Amino acid sequence: MDEKEILAWAEASGISVEQAKEYLKILEPLDKKEDAILREVFSGATGPVLELSAGRGEFTRQLLEKFIKPEGKLYTTERLPEVAEKLVQAIPDKRLEMLVSDSSTLPLPDGSAGLVIFRAALHDFVSDDGDVAKALKDSVRVLAPGGTFVIYDKIKDGYKDVETESAEGRMERMNVELAALEGKACWGLHYLKDYISLMEKMGFAGIQTSVLVMPDQPGYVKYMTGNLHERRPAYVKRWGEKVNALLDSLYADFQKTPAKALSMAFIWGKKR
Ligand SMILES: C[S@@+](CC[C@H](N)C(=O)[O-])C[C@H]1O[C@@H](n2cnc3c(N)ncnc32)[C@H](O)[C@@H]1O
Repeated sequence: MDEKEILAWAEASGISVEQAKEYLKILEPLDKKEDAILREVFSGATGPVLELSAGRGEFTRQLLEKFIKPEGKLYTTERLPEVAEKLVQAIPDKRLEMLVSDSSTLPLPDGSAGLVIFRAALHDFVSDDGDVAKALKDSVRVLAPGGTFVIYDKIKDGYKDVETESAEGRMERMNVELAALEGKACWGLHYLKDYISLMEKMGFAGIQTSVLVMPDQPGYVKYMTGNLHERRPAYVKRWGEKVNALLDSLYADFQKTPAKALSMAFIWGKKR
């Protein structure tokens, strides 16, 4: 973040620039730890990498900058065409190929990727029945035998009732409620042990984990509230007027929920 971005973020969060910088300083060792884990995960990988659910492409950019070799290949997926289009325009890189696709129907041959990875995506996965093992089945098909499968996601470890104990946890319930508005199911937040069970269920061997304990973000509630106010018209456009009640309830809950952060976890294993 440059000085201008820090100033804008501090203002939107109702905190001082000093507080903002202090928080960014606390993130530095965590960024180093994240880098070290990713280096380990990528160390034995050969062949193209497949990223699921790129969203706005922040992680895609990080993968291209640090972990995809100059002659390497990164397939990324995004199921929403308008989001995919923006990403392609924002990241002009000849190593990147965008697949506009749901994780359950990937247009790639069997065993064509050496590594499958996705960040902050599975807890947001929307499907007809909420069965994530089923939703991920095609990405396992696309992974070569011996290839590495990496889930990197938010976890609710440390909380009994994450929605009332953490504003970020309460925020995540919104995705579950939005999916329900469409008659669909969103997986939502889970514990680390649930991810391990999922990896076992999908048949991966040598499962390993590593957790990044994230610091509480100063001004999180104010930042998110302002952000949601700005985004309200976009929510109404996509989900209709009924979304207003969900947003109102989120604002109300935010006022009484501590601004506690969620940890992030890596869970990875090899395809047999
Ligand atoms: C929070 S965003 C991802 C953020 C991004 N990976 C990053 O690290 O910056 C969650 C993404 O999951 C995608 N998603 C939801 N359900 C999905 C599904 N069934 N298959 C594939 N992607 C899905 C959404 O389209 C959205 O882009």
